[in-house]
Amino acid sequence: MTRSEEPLLARPASPNSSTNEIEEEDALLTGQPTNRSPTSKARKWREAGLFVWAVLATAAVIVLAVVYQHESSVARSRPKTGGWGPDGKPSGKRNMIFMVSDGMGPTSLSLTRSWRQYTSGLPIDDLLVLDRHLIGSSRTRSSSSLVTDSAAGATAFSCGFKSYNGAISVLPDHTPCGTVLEAAKRAGYMTGLVVTTRLTDATPACFAAHANRREYEDLIAEQMVGHYPLGRVVDLLIGGGRCHFLPNTTEGSCRADSTDVVAMAKDDFGYQYIDNRADFDNLDNQNGHLDLPLLALLADTDIPYEIDRAQVSDVYPSEAEMARLALKALSAATKDSDKGFFLMIEGSRIDHAGHANDPAAQVREVMAHDEAFDAVLKFLDGDETEGVLVSTSDHETGGLATARQLHESYPQYRWYPEVLANASHSYEFMAREWRKYLDSSSSLSRGEKAIKLADMISSDLGITDYSDDEIDAIIDASPVWPPAYHFADMISRRAQVGWSTHGHSAADVNIYASHPTHAPGLVGNHENIEVGQFIAEYLDLDLEPVTKELREKKVKTSYSASASHSGNQTAASEGWGEWMGPPGLPANDNAQLVSLDEYHGDFKHRKREAEAAMDCGCGMKH
Ligand SMILES: *[C@@H]1O[C@H](CO)[C@@H](O)[C@H](O)[C@H]1NC(C)=O
Ligand SMILES: *[C@@H]1O[C@H](CO)[C@@H](O)[C@H](O)[C@H]1NC(C)=O
Ligand SMILES: *[C@@H]1O[C@H](CO)[C@@H](O)[C@H](O)[C@H]1NC(C)=O
Ligand SMILES: [Zn+2]
Ligand SMILES: [Zn+2]
Repeated sequence: MTRSEEPLLARPASPNSSTNEIEEEDALLTGQPTNRSPTSKARKWREAGLFVWAVLATAAVIVLAVVYQHESSVARSRPKTGGWGPDGKPSGKRNMIFMVSDGMGPTSLSLTRSWRQYTSGLPIDDLLVLDRHLIGSSRTRSSSSLVTDSAAGATAFSCGFKSYNGAISVLPDHTPCGTVLEAAKRAGYMTGLVVTTRLTDATPACFAAHANRREYEDLIAEQMVGHYPLGRVVDLLIGGGRCHFLPNTTEGSCRADSTDVVAMAKDDFGYQYIDNRADFDNLDNQNGHLDLPLLALLADTDIPYEIDRAQVSDVYPSEAEMARLALKALSAATKDSDKGFFLMIEGSRIDHAGHANDPAAQVREVMAHDEAFDAVLKFLDGDETEGVLVSTSDHETGGLATARQLHESYPQYRWYPEVLANASHSYEFMAREWRKYLDSSSSLSRGEKAIKLADMISSDLGITDYSDDEIDAIIDASPVWPPAYHFADMISRRAQVGWSTHGHSAADVNIYASHPTHAPGLVGNHENIEVGQFIAEYLDLDLEPVTKELREKKVKTSYSASASHSGNQTAASEGWGEWMGPPGLPANDNAQLVSLDEYHGDFKHRKREAEAAMDCGCGMKH
């Protein structure tokens, strides 16, 4: 507020007594005139009213001025319409970039914003790029639970329908639903998927595969390269999850069978295949003029957390780097087309850090997503084709709170970003190092283990006030509550960051867009299926014919060829049929049924999860 506005906003000096001042104040606070001096009551009330009016009017002018200034500066740097015509319908050539911040709830933003302000010495009004593009929020429940998983969450985005937890673009009646990516491909758009986890994981899978259960990742890998009723629908696939594409005879495979999905991609569907950073950089240097379709599998399973990747960035690209390559490639490939592209980019591991309750890993994941979001904005600014960016989350993970009561005494009103800043590695890195150490020798004494842990904790977590109890707990950790959880908890407690679950929560999540006018249908509070419906509307897609085609066509898959998997001898002898995998619940190693609505890492299966986390991580479900 400027000096010249002060007289208007300052309370006028009272010409009379202090009684007058009290009366004025009563009137201002209660909206009721006081009764003490009846003769001047009306006049005083009028004055008070005028004063209130003046204050409100001034406030309104200031608010409007600020809003206008903001709007016009946005408008100046973004003269494009986003592809919306004057009739309120999208028209002309246009691109849609849809970003998913898996497991990022509103508190993740608050956590990351404060951490960044602290570490970079920024003022309290310094915002993330995402903060400046908030347009609404999304309600996330699935058809089977108030708390969704990523599969049902992504099915809402891909098909625009609610389904059950675990569904990969399959409806509650176990019939497939056509996706926006499939319909976009049919309509002549180019398509791409970029993720930081396995490409066969639930979110990316939902755009280009259909499976009754998210666990059928071997099946999903085949479908994603084109081995399913629609043939190849994705032009560009960049991410991790190589292990589900390699035959079980190969080092680094996690497939149950000997199908070589990389060979299938290359030979049957014409993909160019790369599996390392050097090849990625070579493609990057081609300025977008690379051969599509492209299959880039840059990690066996997940790309390491940003906090760890920062130290192996010569091996793995960041989310923003992958996003930029995808944008360049799809833009170049659609240069001479009258149709643009649809690209989904996922910051996949915000969710993983939430599952582990590791706030130090999470803030770097959110920052990486923020940078990727910014990279997409810059692309839209500089590209001659109109386009829209929408980013949202499928759900919140962890029940994160930027506060934590550690003792019975009165809670403190604070949390400490410094603790997150001091950590230089994730729980995942710590757990892997610890596992390596334990495997290095069978004769390690308890004392040696304690010394090793103390060293790791101080150098990698930046914690020097660890207690003997904490060290003991890690040495004695069980698969049910693995070392990973202990490492993350040490950070959370010291930072006074709270978590209510190692699973997901039902919190509403934020919706962001390149500009509110670019996604008018998503301004305000919405059901998550409206996000999918918006994508279809913006690209002018009809999903019905795709759904029909999926239901009518059958396809022979290696899965259905050996349909004895499901015990269905009819399907096995026909050699096809259940191309989406059996609808029933799969049995786990102990022949127990896996509940649909529990977090898949529920305690009964924690042993497998923990073991998976320690070696390849290929079995982790989020
Ligand atoms: C590899 O897959 C084949 C089926 O394709 C199976 O018969 C074989 O047992 C598997 N090998 C291993 C080591 O899992
Ligand atoms: C963070 O690290 C610095 C430098 O090692 C240290 O002085 C400080 O006490 C640490 N802060 C916390 C909260 O552990
Ligand atoms: C087995 O597969 C056949 C052919 O695909 C199908 O018609 C039948 O419903 C399946 N049976 C069961 C029990 O899933
Ligand atoms: Zn998720
Ligand atoms: Zn999850």
